[in-house]
Order: sequence, then structure tokens, then C-alpha cells
Amino acid sequence: MLHTRALLRHWRATSILSQGQRRYGSQRAKTLATLEEKRKAATLGGGQKRIDKQHQTGKLTARERVELLLDPGTFREYDMFVEHTCADFGMDTASNKIPGDGVITGHGQINGRMTFVFSQDFTVFGGSLSSMHARKICKIMDKAMDVGAPVIGLNDSGGARIQEGVDSLAGYADIFLRNVHSSGVIPQLSLIMGPCAGGAVYSPAMTDFTFMVKDTSYMFVTGPKVVEEVTREVVTDQELGGALTHTKKSGVAHKAFENDVHALYEMRELFDFLPLSNKDKLPIRVTEDPKDRLIPGLDYIVPHSSDQPYDILDVIRGVVDEGNFFEIMPDYARNIIVGFARMNGRTVGVVGNQPNQKAGCLDITSSIKGARFVRFCDCFNIPILTFEDVPGFLPGTQEEHNGIIRNGAKLLFAYAEATVPKITVITRKAYGGAYDVMSSKHLRGDINYAWPTAEIAVMGAKGAVAILHRGADSSELPRLQQEYEDTLCTPFQAAARGFVDDIIFPRETRKRICEDLELLASKKQSLPWKKHSNIPL
Ligand code: HXC
Repeated sequence: MLHTRALLRHWRATSILSQGQRRYGSQRAKTLATLEEKRKAATLGGGQKRIDKQHQTGKLTARERVELLLDPGTFREYDMFVEHTCADFGMDTASNKIPGDGVITGHGQINGRMTFVFSQDFTVFGGSLSSMHARKICKIMDKAMDVGAPVIGLNDSGGARIQEGVDSLAGYADIFLRNVHSSGVIPQLSLIMGPCAGGAVYSPAMTDFTFMVKDTSYMFVTGPKVVEEVTREVVTDQELGGALTHTKKSGVAHKAFENDVHALYEMRELFDFLPLSNKDKLPIRVTEDPKDRLIPGLDYIVPHSSDQPYDILDVIRGVVDEGNFFEIMPDYARNIIVGFARMNGRTVGVVGNQPNQKAGCLDITSSIKGARFVRFCDCFNIPILTFEDVPGFLPGTQEEHNGIIRNGAKLLFAYAEATVPKITVITRKAYGGAYDVMSSKHLRGDINYAWPTAEIAVMGAKGAVAILHRGADSSELPRLQQEYEDTLCTPFQAAARGFVDDIIFPRETRKRICEDLELLASKKQSLPWKKHSNIPL
């Protein structure tokens, strides 16, 4: 009976629809065909010739990039028919009105999770930013904030649309404002896939992570010609602002990739670690890696001699799910390692001093790198796992004159301010101020462990003996240093005071951390009311 009624309803509906088709058939087919044609024209952007040129330079088109970034069939485009409003310099001719106006915007999914995206189309006025182009970007930024989903920007643009003058500058400012208001609410991710010059660089600079494509992308405030005029320096685009410059020297960008395809793939990988907003739960990836897995090799990873380096990445990869560690800024300030991993399926942010680079000391660049990462994790409720082996802050006039005091304080400030679960494992050295900085108990570290190889003291044996026994006979020094090491360079003094919660067998590190993260999942901690803090910038 039910089936018959449903069939009847279906028959009625289709007969009404086919009546409509008979009545308006040919006229309506024309209207629908027009839409089809207009859509097709819009997908061509600046035309086949410019598309071919884009391909010849090793770049994908804006649309191809969106297709690769998102799950197949999930992209929903907005504002495909938007046109610029400029009438100067002959811009109002039909051939200069290109639907979409140089940027493709919309939303789609990455592994089933929502994201907003804009992709600048270099084939349309070099992807330059008009007021309407900016308005399209602002529209998706606003929507992303409304629903709580990240924004990914694929940048390939000659900067401000010169013909539009101040309208274009206003468009940039509208985007900047939204970048700032979205900061800490939704993740904002940038991928530089072509030129990004002038004030245009400041939008990516305010997003959370910036990736670049090697050889085909560059970012600078003023290009090589102006640099030569002003400073007489002769420099190429790539030397001035290419991917290697920004990932190795300036720290403006976080990772560099060989080509568009690789960069887009890695952007998807990064996205998978992140919550969609500051109110969203951390994503979970089911893992077959047992949470109580023991790692016997860790018992022997710290060398017998305190001066001998080892690779903290071996510790990190050993502990996290399936050894999968997504490193951020791998080529910059390598004496500190930061990146994302999962523990029992849930995202964690990992920070580690790297003993095989500058002995793992903290200096200006590593402090800034670490601080920014810790603050990102705290914004998005990502627990922070810290592996500590730090001999102290790097001495020297260069560091002091460039502000190691102010910059080192950034990392200290970031850890002290972070209210997410914080777990610290001191693998070896925890000396001086750096002991305090690296998520110590005193900065509200939740669980602080030491390995038996830990040395927690004001300074190392050599320096301490030189001060305490100035003028001592050189033959006495080995004995005095040994005495100092046995007394102070151990984890037991800190453990006796409750400054570390336990001294654990290294092999148990993963098991303990997984248990702790479960315990801390319901952690709630807050800061005194304030408008915002005043981190030493
Ligand atoms: C309008 C632009 C444009 C722009 C490029 N085009 N940049 N149109 N406004 N800013 C157009 C070109 O006229 C050309 O049109 C097409 O885009 C491709 O440009 P080409 O020069 O042929 O390409 P290429 O040789 O690859 O060089 C790319 C480029 C160069 C390096 C980006 O175009 C360039 O230097 N553009 C100007 C960059 C710039 O100074 N921008 C302003 C920065 S100041 P056709 O029709 O020939 O295809 C700024 C202020 C923002 O952005 C401040 C915000 C606060």
C-alpha cells in the first residue's frame, strides 16, 4: 500500500515536470545552454594562450590547483560571474571583463572535512587584486568564520591591480583586517605558487602557516629593480624572495616544495592534523600503533658522554604514532624542532631541542620559531609535547646585541601563557634559564618527566667548577667536575622537590604520554582576565 502511494506521488510530480517541459521546452533549453556556456567561458580565465603559458612555466592553473587540493567533486564555487568595476584605462571593454576577476573562491572538503579556499588566477591580469577580487576573498573569509572552518589561500598574483589605484589598496586592507580577526579562531593556511609582492605579502604573513613552491614562487616587499635603485644591490627574484630564501634565511615561510602537486599534497597532510576552528575537537586518525608500545632503543639513545650529539628526531619519531612526524620549518633554526604528530590517533604539537645542531641551545631564531608554534597549538587546543635537551641560551655579542633577551622571552612567554595540556620529557640537559623556559613545572607544565640520563642544574660541570674553584690546580679539575656531576647534574634533585613528576625508563615514554593525554583531555585552565597580553614582540 505504502509503495503504491509513493509511486503515485512520483508519477504526479514527473507529469507536472514534463508538462512544464512541453510548455517552455525550447525557450528554457536556450536559457540553460547560456548558463552552461557562461560557466564554460568563466573556467577559461584569461584564455587558452595564457593557460598554456602558465603550464609552460611549470605552474598549474588556479582551477587545477583547487581540484588537486580538495576531495574530488566537493568544490562549490562562489562568485564565478563577478566582474571588476573599473572603467579607467579601457578596462570597461568586453574583452577586459573576465568573469571571476582573477580569483576562484568557494568551499570544499579535504578528507571529508570542510575548508574554504581561494585560488588566484595569474591568467587574469596577472592574478592582480581588484576591489571585486578582494571582495570575493573577504566573502569566503567571513563565511569561514561564520561556520568555523579554515581558509586556505593559493597565492599567484602580481599584487595590487594597478588600474584600480586606491580601490585595490582598500581591498588588501579589508583582507588584512579579516586575517587578524580570524587569527586564533580558524586556521589560516597560505601556499605561495607564483609572485607575491608588495603589501600583498602581509596577508600570508599573518596566516598560521605559509608554504612555497621552489623556483616558481617568490615573496618580497620591494622587487629586485627597486632594491638595485635604492641600495645598488644586484639580486634575482629567487635570491631576494624565493622559497629557499624564506625557508632557510628569513623564516617567513615554513616549508618549500618541488612543484605545485607536491605542495598541494603536503597542504592536505598539514590540514589533516588541525582542528577546523578553536571550538572544534581535534581530528582523530585511527591508528594500529599500540598506545602501550615500549621502545627499548630509547634506553640507549642518549650517548654516554654529555658532549656527544644525537638526533632528537629519532626520539620523536620513535614515540609518536607510526613514526609520522610533520615537521614545520625543517630548514630554519634547526637547533629546535617543531611539528605535528599524533598520539593514539590525536594531534599533538611537538617541540624538541636538537642536540646535533648548535648543541640544541636556544638562540634568537629558535626561540621565535618555538614561540610561534607553541602559540599556534595553544590557540587551537593542541596539546604540547616537549622533549628537552638544552645546554642554555647561546652566548655572544651577536645574540645579545640582536636581542636574545627580548626574543628568548617570547618562548618563555608562550609556554607560560599556554593553557593546553603540556607534557615535558627531559632527555638530557636542562640547564639554566632554558630549564625554566622549556615548559617547566613552574610554568604550569602538567606532567614533567626526566629520563635517568637527565642533568638538571644551573650550568654544566666545566663552567660551574671554573667559577666555584677558580685557581684550582688543573690536575684537580677532573675530580671536581665529577663531584659536581654526581651531586647536581642528575634528575634526582629536581625529583626530590617535585619539579619533575617522575623519572621514567625511556622505553616507557610513549605509554606514559598516551596515558597522560587521556587524563589531560578534560583539562581546563584559564588566565587572569585581560584584553590581551603584551608578548615581547
Ligand atoms: C594589473 C598586472 C599586474 C598588476 C601583472 N599584470 N601585474 N595587471 N596590475 N599589478 C598583468 C600584466 O600586464 C600582464 O597582462 C599579465 O598580468 C602577466 O604579467 P607579465 O608581466 O606578462 O608576467 P611575468 O613576466 O610573469 O611577470 C609577472 C610580474 C610582473 C613579475 C608579477 O607582471 C610585475 O612585475 N607586475 C607588477 C608587480 C607590482 O609591482 N605590483 C604592485 C605591487 S605593490 P597581459 O595582458 O599582457 O597578459 C602592491 C601594493 C599592495 O601590491 C599594497 C597593499 C597594502
